Amino acid sequence: MNQYFTNNENLKSRERVIKYNYGSNSFSFVSDNGVFSKNRLDFGSITLIETYLKNKKNIQSFLDVGCGYGFLSIVLAHELKISGVGVDVNRRALNLAQKNAKLNQVSVSFIESNIYEGVQGTFDLIITNPPIRAGKEVVLNILMKAKDYLNLDGELWMVIRKDQGAKSIIKVLNNAYKVEIKEKNKGFYVIVAKN
Ligand SMILES: C[S@@+](CC[C@H](N)C(=O)[O-])C[C@H]1O[C@@H](n2cnc3c(N)ncnc32)[C@H](O)[C@@H]1O
Repeated sequence: MNQYFTNNENLKSRERVIKYNYGSNSFSFVSDNGVFSKNRLDFGSITLIETYLKNKKNIQSFLDVGCGYGFLSIVLAHELKISGVGVDVNRRALNLAQKNAKLNQVSVSFIESNIYEGVQGTFDLIITNPPIRAGKEVVLNILMKAKDYLNLDGELWMVIRKDQGAKSIIKVLNNAYKVEIKEKNKGFYVIVAKN
């Protein structure tokens, strides 16, 4: 089975455009076969970004781990008027993300990176809708190693479904971070972890 995080160059392309409104701002995202959330935005990702923006702080930098076609990064960069970095292993998603950044007139560097392998520097915010289907090891790597890429007052924000192990992930996070559940919406938990 083709997963949304594998590179399959032979998968036929069929681009489509997904619209999203935040307040009075309209965004367009080009999506395609072979990427996460190809036909519509993920409810978890929408809950994550909207909860973050409701609680936003004055930040200068962010990293979006598992950025897909750029939804979280692009809305963040636009609403906070900052640039950021998005990483993913799916090259088709990264190409779309670059195209989407131009389309929505924001500046985000989208780079191919297995988790943090290609990431340099530290950030005020790390945001992720982690790839649960890639397995617990990948997910815990994303969440636990975030510590090394956060600035002193930095925050790690994530969305995880209750039925996809949110509670057990919170237990693990508690070993390394101060953890708070910011929102629970239709089984999706928005969780913040701080140093
Ligand atoms: C649940 S999707 C979220 C996509 C996007 N952030 C959104 O909110 O729509 C998770 C993303 O993680 C990516 N991913 C999977 N394994 C990865 C890894 N080892 N390193 C980086 N990204 C990975 C997938 O390709 C996918 O785009």
